[in-house]
Amino acid sequence: MTILIQGARPYGEDAVDVLVKDGVIAAIGEDLSSTAETVDATGLVLLPGLVDLHTHLREPGREDTETVLTGSRAAALGGYTAVHAMANTDPVADTAGVVEQVWRLGSDAGLVDVVPVGAVTVGLGGERLAELGAMADSAARVRVFSDDGKCVADPALMRRALEYTKALDGVVAQHAEEPRLTVGAQMHEGERSARLGLTGWPAVAEEAIIARDVLLAEHVGARLHVCHVSTAGSVELIRWAKSRGVQVTAEVTPHHLLLTDAQAEGYDATFKVNPPLRTAEDVAALRAGLADGTIDAVATDHAPHAAEDKECEWSAARPGMLGLEQALSVVVDTMVDTGLLTWREVADRMSVRPAVIGRLAGHGRPLEVGEPANLVLVDPGARSVVDPAALASKSRNSPYAGRELPARVVHVLLRGEPTVRDGEVQK
Ligand code: DOR
Ligand code: ZN
Repeated sequence: MTILIQGARPYGEDAVDVLVKDGVIAAIGEDLSSTAETVDATGLVLLPGLVDLHTHLREPGREDTETVLTGSRAAALGGYTAVHAMANTDPVADTAGVVEQVWRLGSDAGLVDVVPVGAVTVGLGGERLAELGAMADSAARVRVFSDDGKCVADPALMRRALEYTKALDGVVAQHAEEPRLTVGAQMHEGERSARLGLTGWPAVAEEAIIARDVLLAEHVGARLHVCHVSTAGSVELIRWAKSRGVQVTAEVTPHHLLLTDAQAEGYDATFKVNPPLRTAEDVAALRAGLADGTIDAVATDHAPHAAEDKECEWSAARPGMLGLEQALSVVVDTMVDTGLLTWREVADRMSVRPAVIGRLAGHGRPLEVGEPANLVLVDPGARSVVDPAALASKSRNSPYAGRELPARVVHVLLRGEPTVRDGEVQK
């Protein structure tokens, strides 16, 4: 298939034409002509397809809340061409068999590259290492390992996991939460949690694990990735570790860049998430950390939940919120429109660095001739109000319902084939 993209602005810069042929960028220049299908991209920003390091697709096990297909649709509509599917499914993705199943479902859906994450421990039990090597060698080629939802709390087991993943050129993506400090925790621990009568989740529960793990990663000489960093202190610790040369990378979610613990005031469990929404000072530190590169990536932690698990008492609700379809808009709102990131830096934090961390060949590549045509075209001037009923996800727990956000994903190409055309997903 051949497509001529006319008048697009790579990284928000000067407009050019881009010819896509046989899955790769075949030419870039002014006034290219072709008999091929043309896409009028006047005014649209062209970026490499986005890569998510942290998506919950819920299949196998909770197909009532999301499937690999519905999650792939949500991802494509959000501008993604690759997503890492978290391992806390039922059964857990802790064997070559389960990760291959998820990988196959992803390639059957064919909308984004679904890259399975392997569990670090058997059944996320935190006691025995899972078959990391078998998952790495499987057709799914797992490189990111995580017990996300749970922390690998045992330091000896974490050390062993770092040693194994180092040998596999993989990485442990740690959900940093000292479980002994978050028993019964419901929201950020502070003045507000005391007033609302909800058990607090203290910043130190995250920071203590990050401090420990960067030291372990340094000791082992392994890579470490920190999931959903949520506190100012965590940003400081990661900045310190990077300055020492520790091979640590980190992600922040769109919701932690935009929302604060003030959202808990109405006891609407849509806003219950783990780690919890923090203070305005934490949000400012997360934005600054993402801007200066201390935080490498934006990752959605897209966490679909059934209505009965959200439309209930706060303390009974499950933590998690949707993210894939609005992630780029939230980043534009919090980081681009505020002058904190350029479009080139958005590509770096949402595509280039996530692809490097996940060791994904073919994604996060520069917009150059010969590179795979994994591309997204964004209308930066569009604004729209989020309607949960209109989402492609099977779940409705969007924290952005009713909120007006900037930017709209218009077209997405996966290896040169349109997955989204004029804002419509193609499957
Ligand atoms: O809020 C969260 N939801 N945090 C996690 O770590 C897990 C996730 C989920 O699976 O729902
Ligand atoms: Zn997590």
